[in-house]
Amino acid sequence: MNHVIELTDNIFIFIVAISVFFLLLITAAMVYFVVRYRAKRNPNPSNITGNTTLEILWTVIPLILVLMMFFYGWEGFKEMRNVPADAMVVKVTARMWYWSFEYENKMKSDTLLVLPANRNVKFELNSVDVNHSFYLPAYRMKEDVIPGRINYMWINTALEGVYDIMCAEYCGMNHSFMLGKLRVVSEKEFLEWVSKVDTVKKVDSLKTDSTQIKLGSVNTGTIKTDTTKQSGNKKDTVKNRKDTLIRRD
Ligand code: CUA
Repeated sequence: MNHVIELTDNIFIFIVAISVFFLLLITAAMVYFVVRYRAKRNPNPSNITGNTTLEILWTVIPLILVLMMFFYGWEGFKEMRNVPADAMVVKVTARMWYWSFEYENKMKSDTLLVLPANRNVKFELNSVDVNHSFYLPAYRMKEDVIPGRINYMWINTALEGVYDIMCAEYCGMNHSFMLGKLRVVSEKEFLEWVSKVDTVKKVDSLKTDSTQIKLGSVNTGTIKTDTTKQSGNKKDTVKNRKDTLIRRD
């Protein structure tokens, strides 16, 4: 299991569990007080002054809880920001409205990101137009992509398979169609992918599962690199997202 995924899920469950516990506790107390001290039974309200023990308790217990949340959150954050030295680098470029990837050997790919399994991968994130956010839900990682600035993020590709790439920052009309696919494959398949000349055929040769985009229908001319043209027709862009997973040379 990928360590970052584990840390992220643990802190998430920890915070949700505490929230649910207090939601139930406070709701129950509220209902109890409403019934127990209703006006009919207590026509003359009594005046209650402070209770030092209670006040200390409801200050100290939440303080300890939020410090624990901070501590576990910080542990995960440190891990996420600390890129292993052996990480391979992939440059990620965001534009309205698709992702582009460039590998260390200058190989480029639009929309489809192929990575070898069980490797540390660093993404260098840059945008050519507006703010986007590079989001890999399966790996619990998300980072803003800001024009004029290189952000970074890294993952350990522990999970083989096909996963969604999303844009998590509203970036204009087709933000919600700014999808991509991350495919984590064996080292051998990855090397074939990243070094090949004959793009489309090799893409076909990668094992795919039935849920994902059909690579057989790839048409290298479908993605428009001109963003002004692309912004024109929503329908076209949706179609492009569906039937193109191509690399651009
Ligand atoms: Cu790019 Cu939203």
